[in-house]
Parts: sequence; C-alpha cells; structure tokens
Amino acid sequence: MTAESTPEQAYRQAMAAFATGVTVVTAPAADGALSGMTVNSLTSVSLEPRLLLWCLGDASARYRTFAEAELWGVSILADEAESTARRFARAATQDVADGESELLAGVRVLRQGLAQLACRTHHKMQAGDHLIIVGEVLDVRVRAGAALTFYRGGYGSTGAD
Ligand SMILES: Cc1cc2nc3c(=O)[nH]c(=O)nc-3n(C[C@H](O)[C@H](O)[C@H](O)COP(=O)(O)O)c2cc1C
Repeated sequence: MTAESTPEQAYRQAMAAFATGVTVVTAPAADGALSGMTVNSLTSVSLEPRLLLWCLGDASARYRTFAEAELWGVSILADEAESTARRFARAATQDVADGESELLAGVRVLRQGLAQLACRTHHKMQAGDHLIIVGEVLDVRVRAGAALTFYRGGYGSTGAD
C-alpha cells in the first residue's frame, strides 16, 4: 500500500493480484429475455452437496434479475472468449441471443462455455455491498480447451488444455 492509496484502493490492488477464471452468469429477466453478466467471484463451496457461490454487486442495474432468479447458469469462458467477457460486463449488451444459449438441466447456459453449470439458488446472504448467492449444482458439462483468465485488470489465457 503506497502513501497515496486509500484502504479501498489498496484492497482492490491486492485482490487484483488474485488471478481468476472468467464466467458469465445467465438468468431470465422479467421480460423473458436471457440476461448475461460477466462474473469472476465464482467459488466452489461444497462437494456433498454440490454447492458454489458468486457475489452480486448491489449497484448492478440488473440486480433484481440475478438476485431473484431461482434457476441460473454459469458458463466458464474459454480463452478465445475475451470479447464475450467484455460484452456481458456492459448493461447495453446484456441480452443473450437465442442461438447463443443452450439448455442444461432445463437451464439456459452459453453455448460457447468451456464448462457449463446449471444451478438452483440454495440460499442468499447480504455481505457489505454484495449479495452472496449460493447455488446447488444441478448438472455440468465440460469441454477441452484453454481457459480465459483475469489478473490485475487484464485478460489472459491459461495457455494449456
Ligand atoms: C472480469 C470481470 C469480473 C466481474 N465480476 C463480477 C462479480 O463477480 N460480481 C458482480 O456483481 N459484478 C462483476 N463484474 C461486473 C459486471 O460484469 C457488470 O459490469 C456490472 O454488474 C455493471 O453492469 P450492470 O449495472 O449492467 O450490472 C465483473 C466484471 C468484469 C469485467
């Protein structure tokens, strides 16, 4: 932490050093369209039962769609999907077109996902300015390929299958 940085900036910088994969969470909006949000807070929680979590920011324009969804998908992105990650980080380009998604256990996930997980909300809890959403994993599908990474604000690749 430098002399000029606030504790919040220092915390951001520290967590930016934690390299993650990149996912798109998909859920149906009130108008029936499928909404996608770029998310890197995904964490595996439990194997028995199979639970995972992600954290939804309170300030999201799409908060209600994701906070209220009972069924939602997680698509882990391949390294060629950087444009997909950028697109679903912006509200203006949040809609998933029909041909871009497919069903997994009755849940819509991105067709191009390196790994796809169909989830049902297990429980939710507020933590600071984010809602922690814990999901029960209903089904998964996995493909070979290198994964997209996010590290210090930039995209990269695992570089291996
Ligand atoms: C790599 C990356 C990871 C992100 N991870 C999260 C996340 O875990 N949770 C979250 O609420 N927003 C996350 N965001 C931000 C959302 O994708 C989106 O930009 C934000 O919700 C603002 O758009 P909205 O107001 O239309 O929702 C992430 C953005 C990027 C680029």
